[in-house]
Amino acid sequence: MQRILITGANRGIGFELARQYVAAGDALVFAGCRRPSAATGLKERAGQAADRLVIVQLDVNDARSITAATERIAARAGALDILVNNAGINPRGAHQSSHMGSLSADDVSEIITTNAVAALIVTQACRPLLSAGDNPRVVMISSGMGSMQRTQGDSYAYRMSKAAMNMAARVLAFDEAMAGIITITANPGWVKTDMGGAGALLEPEESGSGLHTLIGGLTEADQGKFYQYDGSELPW
Ligand SMILES: NC(=O)c1ccc[n+]([C@@H]2O[C@H](COP(=O)([O-])OP(=O)(O)OC[C@H]3O[C@@H](n4cnc5c(N)ncnc54)[C@H](OP(=O)(O)O)[C@@H]3O)[C@@H](O)[C@H]2O)c1
Repeated sequence: MQRILITGANRGIGFELARQYVAAGDALVFAGCRRPSAATGLKERAGQAADRLVIVQLDVNDARSITAATERIAARAGALDILVNNAGINPRGAHQSSHMGSLSADDVSEIITTNAVAALIVTQACRPLLSAGDNPRVVMISSGMGSMQRTQGDSYAYRMSKAAMNMAARVLAFDEAMAGIITITANPGWVKTDMGGAGALLEPEESGSGLHTLIGGLTEADQGKFYQYDGSELPW
């Protein structure tokens, strides 16, 4: 059984990935979510497959929540083989993080903290569990919007946050303290979720299935690379 932690697993891409790992039957999935009591879809799945799905309270911005989650995983599984840093935000509307002229430091910082800093801190907290895992892998769910080469105008904070996440993944891939752990960055594509919107190109199933296959095939040769959900490589 592979042991996998997915952050932000109560909806969207994280939920779909959790669903696919549980359905495949070869994984024990720790599904991280901020409010387990409200995670209706996860609770339903966990009721059907309690031996393969464990709901773990995890707010990636809360140090105490991270510690409690890793302690729970250690007690239940002793190790982690896969960490998927999926939790992320890209607020719209009144949030002043996107457009020149209305940017606020607090709103920009909130996005960078959640999307980049928290993924790094969660990875650090999981390092002892990953070091004890089999073929341990860290997957940073980033975005094409974090690519320097592909950048266009708008969405300052979100683009900056994903570029920072990409750099964190690169540093992790070269860090001797992370020896033996493969770290990659993955773009899930433009997916029909609350964040991606109804006009997105991909159904969550297609993105999730591509990511599932990509993660399953990772070897040392993939260390530090930036992949599209379908396994093709992306420019930084
Ligand atoms: N959808 C796309 O087209 C697209 C494209 C490129 C990249 N991505 C990336 O893919 C990832 C998943 O996106 P999505 O489309 O599935 O988004 P989504 O539907 O908005 O779901 C986001 C998930 O992240 C969780 N989350 C947010 N802040 C959190 C925190 N502080 N602690 C724990 N969980 C937190 C949310 O939990 P709550 O329910 O508690 O808010 C939710 O489970 C994100 O990193 C996003 O940037 C998405």
